[in-house]
Amino acid sequence: MHQDKGDTKVVKIVTVYSSKGGVGKTTTSVNLSYLFATDKCRTLLWDLDPQGSASFYMRVKPTLEKSIDKVLKSFKSIDKSIKESDFDNLFLLPSDSSLKNIDFTIDDMKKPSKKLEKTLFQGENFFDLIIIDSPPGFSLLNELLSKVSDMILVPVIPSTLSINSLKLINDFLKECNINIEKVYPFFSMADIRKKMHKDIINEYIDDFKIKTIIPYNSIVEQMGIHRTPMPFFSPNSSVTKKYINLKKELERAIKI
Ligand SMILES: Nc1ncnc2c1ncn2[C@@H]1O[C@H](COP(=O)(O)OP(=O)(O)O)[C@@H](O)[C@H]1O
Ligand SMILES: [Mg+2]
Repeated sequence: MHQDKGDTKVVKIVTVYSSKGGVGKTTTSVNLSYLFATDKCRTLLWDLDPQGSASFYMRVKPTLEKSIDKVLKSFKSIDKSIKESDFDNLFLLPSDSSLKNIDFTIDDMKKPSKKLEKTLFQGENFFDLIIIDSPPGFSLLNELLSKVSDMILVPVIPSTLSINSLKLINDFLKECNINIEKVYPFFSMADIRKKMHKDIINEYIDDFKIKTIIPYNSIVEQMGIHRTPMPFFSPNSSVTKKYINLKKELERAIKI
């Protein structure tokens, strides 16, 4: 929980994270951001993956101004870099060319997590929720984001490799002295026609605090054609309903 000095405003930070690529981080970040925003929650989607996929889905061009580099170095207000989206209450901090070298910047800094927290809470733009689409890996950036987050939301494809990577994520966070109670894995891109997917879900679902299972469905890939969140172009699809359930579970878990 993060509180502004002297008043009662509270912003929650959710980082969507996995050491693996292609597991549904960006899809989840974009769809959840949209669902929260349409539910009157002032939401910032921060695209911290240099690939810029979330910015692409939101029709915002990645910036070239090294804004994030500057933000972390001098912890200036992020307000100038924040873009409006096509939707009420939903704002985007787009991907940035400096992200590729962000670990060098972080490595040079003293107390980077304090600086980042200060950056996130000193802006004039107040948000109820910040959802961060983070890059895969075990980098200093991943450590920093995990530190400042209220929730680390981990999409897990029901496969042995993804279960292994979940264990590696927990080990990595423990090494960084991060409370792994903040880690919330959920099953993503699940195809229950596959025996392995079904078996892994049955084996692990009791241990997962989040029970929503996002199914594999080719309609999700159409986000790249529509360049909008899925609940916008397909409000009644079964996957959208699952994302709505996921949002409700987040609300309950960290009281957004
Ligand atoms: N539930 C799903 N069903 C089918 N395809 C999906 C689903 N979720 C994501 N995808 C597709 O899988 C690919 C990887 O998803 P993405 O969200 O970009 O993963 P990440 O950000 O972890 O790399 C994308 O092409 C996306 O459209
Ligand atoms: Mg991505």
